[in-house]
Amino acid sequence: MMFLNFRRVRKCQRVQLMTTCLLLSVMMVCWEQLDNSVVNHVKSYSFRYLINRFSYINKSLTIPRNQARIFSNFHYLMDHPDKCIGKDVLLLLFVKTSPENIERRKAIRSTWGNETYIQNTLGVTVKVVFALGAVHIKKTEPLWSKRSGVGFQDQLAQEDRLHGDLIQQDFLDSFHNLTLKLILQFHWMHSHCAHARFLMTADDDIFVHMPNLVSYLQDVSSRGVKDFWIGRVHRGAPPIRSKESKYYVSFEMYPWVAYPDYTAGAAYVVSSDVANKIYHATLTLNASIYIDDVFMGICANAVGVSPQEHVYFSGEGKAPYHPCIYEKMMTSHGHIEDIYDVWKAATHPQVKHGTSGLIGKLYCAAVKMTLLCKPYHFNTYPCKAAFS
Ligand SMILES: *[C@@H]1O[C@H](CO)[C@@H](O)[C@H](O)[C@H]1NC(C)=O
Ligand SMILES: *[C@@H]1O[C@H](CO)[C@@H](O)[C@H](O)[C@H]1NC(C)=O
Ligand SMILES: *[C@@H]1O[C@H](CO)[C@@H](O)[C@H](O)[C@H]1NC(C)=O
Ligand SMILES: *[C@@H]1O[C@H](CO)[C@@H](O)[C@H](O)[C@H]1NC(C)=O
Repeated sequence: MMFLNFRRVRKCQRVQLMTTCLLLSVMMVCWEQLDNSVVNHVKSYSFRYLINRFSYINKSLTIPRNQARIFSNFHYLMDHPDKCIGKDVLLLLFVKTSPENIERRKAIRSTWGNETYIQNTLGVTVKVVFALGAVHIKKTEPLWSKRSGVGFQDQLAQEDRLHGDLIQQDFLDSFHNLTLKLILQFHWMHSHCAHARFLMTADDDIFVHMPNLVSYLQDVSSRGVKDFWIGRVHRGAPPIRSKESKYYVSFEMYPWVAYPDYTAGAAYVVSSDVANKIYHATLTLNASIYIDDVFMGICANAVGVSPQEHVYFSGEGKAPYHPCIYEKMMTSHGHIEDIYDVWKAATHPQVKHGTSGLIGKLYCAAVKMTLLCKPYHFNTYPCKAAFS
């Protein structure tokens, strides 16, 4: 009896043990998932205050000026130092582009980035320039020969002769050199366009509702706002430690659990006083962290500037196509082929017709709520945009 019982107990325990083990391993697997997303975010968000409030990031990333210079000391392959001279520039708009994105630049020039249109229709001077690095030289790819190396650089020079809007420095144009492109923009503005009232930096697959943006910036400017930095804000974002990710950042590069608050690199605007402060921050900071918008956050943190959210600046998201959205939108991400259509639709004089007056406003409130407040629908403007 005893023996049997004992064996029963043993068996029971074994089952229990095995179940526990199974449960534990399931939990561990899930936990890792949880840990990577939820816990990391909760942890980083709770450290956000410390990160934004104190200056230890600034202290630890400050390096001697002569060493910081290596991040900005690139030779200009193409430049237009006279762009802004003698003009009352409301906005200097840098589009971050890559040499091969010829079609995207073409689309921007003939839609929202058309300086002549902006001057004639909106009555202000906006300077749109493209920031790019040097062309990859692919010696081993004969098929690419036309587009690689020297030949392709010639093609770019020809594009530039036609449009006069490429600002190119001699660093390799690559994802991991985006911070160098950011530094280029602030240094160029400091040297050649310091009197522009605002600086904007945008991806080359962004759509900018230029009329809305211009009237918004005119308003901000007339109120004499300082320390202005606006876009889609990432608050307390954690560094990604998974090596497979494009955004992987090592502990050596950035040891803390959260980044300072920053705006999504897709498109954001700063006032000229902020641009000047950021320029000065880049003179003493270690810019080896290659995520450019994060580095912008680090610079801003060092000079005591924090970003503000604008619900109609998109991060990764694409705006829904609708006149009620066009009435308010500032930027929308991920537009390549459709950019001509969106521009035409968004700036059509008829757009304002259906959306004005009491009926129009009620109609648009309902439409925006349906478009933006769907549950599990994050990839666009936030729900609160429907009520602004
Ligand atoms: C820019 O706009 C002007 C005036 O509206 C127009 O004449 C010109 O063709 C446009 N440029 C491009 C590249 O589309
Ligand atoms: C960045 O540019 C520099 C200068 O051209 C180059 O040496 C380096 O390999 C580039 N880095 C990356 C990650 O592409
Ligand atoms: C900048 O940071 C990198 C790590 O991200 C480090 O390897 C490098 O030594 C630092 N540069 C200076 C000048 O301290
Ligand atoms: C960041 O460091 C620089 C140089 O060490 C210092 O002048 C500046 O005041 C610091 N900023 C903050 C916000 O502590």
